[in-house]
Amino acid sequence: MKSIEERTHYAVINQGGFDICRNYTKPVIFVALIFFAGIFLTAILLRLNVQILFASSWLENQKYLASLSSSGKVVCYLTIPGNDTTAHLSASSVDPNLCTHVIIGFASVVNCTINLGGNDKIYKDAINLKSKNPQLKVMVSVAGMNEISTGFPVMVRNHANRKKFIRSVLAAAKSLRLDGLDIDWEFPAWLDADARQKIHFVQLLYELKRAFTKRKDKLVLSAAVAASEAMIDQCYNVPEIAEHVDFVNLMAYDYHFYAPELPFTGLNAPLYRSGKDAGLFATMNVNYSANYWVMKGMPRNKIVVGIPTYGHSFKLQNVENHGLQAPCSGYGLLGYSGFASYPTICGFLNNSATRVFENSSQVPYAYKDTEWISYDDIVSVSTKANWIRSSGFGGAMIFSLNADDWNATWHRDSTFPLTRAVANIIRDDLNETNHMY
Ligand SMILES: *[C@@H]1O[C@H](CO)[C@@H](O)[C@H](O)[C@H]1NC(C)=O
Ligand SMILES: *[C@@H]1O[C@H](CO)[C@@H](O)[C@H](O)[C@H]1NC(C)=O
Ligand SMILES: *[C@@H]1O[C@H](CO)[C@@H](O)[C@H](O)[C@H]1NC(C)=O
Ligand SMILES: *[C@@H]1O[C@H](CO)[C@@H](O)[C@H](O)[C@H]1NC(C)=O
Ligand SMILES: *[C@@H]1O[C@H](CO)[C@@H](O)[C@H](O)[C@H]1NC(C)=O
Ligand SMILES: *[C@@H]1O[C@H](CO)[C@@H](O)[C@H](O)[C@H]1NC(C)=O
Ligand SMILES: *[C@@H]1O[C@H](CO)[C@@H](O)[C@H](O)[C@H]1NC(C)=O
Repeated sequence: MKSIEERTHYAVINQGGFDICRNYTKPVIFVALIFFAGIFLTAILLRLNVQILFASSWLENQKYLASLSSSGKVVCYLTIPGNDTTAHLSASSVDPNLCTHVIIGFASVVNCTINLGGNDKIYKDAINLKSKNPQLKVMVSVAGMNEISTGFPVMVRNHANRKKFIRSVLAAAKSLRLDGLDIDWEFPAWLDADARQKIHFVQLLYELKRAFTKRKDKLVLSAAVAASEAMIDQCYNVPEIAEHVDFVNLMAYDYHFYAPELPFTGLNAPLYRSGKDAGLFATMNVNYSANYWVMKGMPRNKIVVGIPTYGHSFKLQNVENHGLQAPCSGYGLLGYSGFASYPTICGFLNNSATRVFENSSQVPYAYKDTEWISYDDIVSVSTKANWIRSSGFGGAMIFSLNADDWNATWHRDSTFPLTRAVANIIRDDLNETNHMY
């Protein structure tokens, strides 16, 4: 048997054509070792690199898959109690682990400046929820409804006014440590308003977004938007709005309520059209509205679909006629101007009202004597939440936490039962955190 040296020698001779090789044997081994060590090291580095590359693309992939199928937003409005019957839920009683975003409403616009109306304590209490859940985003909603604030049309009219408003928003956000702003202008360019408001609205959102992105900790920007086809066409330049907002809160409710011009029973927030809906009425449902926003150019994942925790009551003209489109003579006794909270409705049901589930629309209504009410319960909000997920929308908006059975009066085992049912379906991260409150 030849020694290793000899074999190496032989190989070297064959490859390199040395004649006197013996003396070269040791350096050749040395060079060879370095060479192989180099290859080995390179291989390790490459391998690491590949692993790093692989890991990051795996992460991206997981993120992508997650964004496709799962965890959506649960955006909850907490309204500042007025003179209505919605119970006085204090911000400190809100379960900090239920919603991804809590939006406090409503601030107004006075003199082109955001006006919190002396409710600073509510904002501070809401911000304090973040000590229990740092992921929670707390936002303020500024409303441009005629009954709350007439300041919107003047504020949006020109750049200087908008600039003043935006400066006031940044100052309020900074002093209260808010995470963002929701614009709830009901509604730009609607009815006999100035048609240019449609453009002003987009300009406002554009300028807000630009100011928000400049900050170190970016502020969230959302807009509460209408659900009816006519309003979507009239009030919104959807593709441009989509560019500036993080998401829209689709007010997918109030499709029917008592009105003297339309004195008939109808569903507050039907998921689909009912068998009786024809023509225009066939468009008055959540599924139609959300898909119409998509068709007009809003990305699905930016549409957060509203789910009401309140119902609308009606007074029947004839106790024998208690179906859909039954003649009515006014609001029902339940609630305030026909708006009834979920606990109020639970009380009505417990008081031997008859519940009917509208199979085609996937929502219930209930009646007793001349009282008739359309509402959402655990079944219907769960159906909606599952539909939101399977349709790829951005999440669910709850209007409002106040009108839910937040004190567990009727669902003894659970506070905020409607919101919780929605959150459990929309959010994947709740299993660990969703303790009863
Ligand atoms: C609430 O009621 C009080 C007294 O009943 C009244 O002075 C006040 O203006 C009302 N506020 C609103 C917002 O309606
Ligand atoms: C609006 O602002 C102007 C000037 O900044 C001031 O003179 C006026 O009093 C303000 N009005 C209100 C209602 O605050
Ligand atoms: C939901 O809306 C889409 C788009 O408008 C429509 O194609 C579909 O039939 C609707 N679904 C139901 C059950 O009405
Ligand atoms: C429900 O109704 C029953 C009898 O009608 C009554 O005893 C009970 O107190 C009611 N539940 C609540 C929570 O009020
Ligand atoms: C609604 O569906 C349920 C079960 O799916 C059925 O028992 C009930 O008769 C249906 N009601 C109507 C009015 O179609
Ligand atoms: C909440 O419910 C408890 C009883 O379960 C009651 O004592 C308390 O007063 C309620 N809180 C409010 C604010 O209504
Ligand atoms: C928690 O996880 C279990 C299994 O992983 C699942 O069956 C259940 O529906 C989840 N619960 C909620 C509230 O998401």
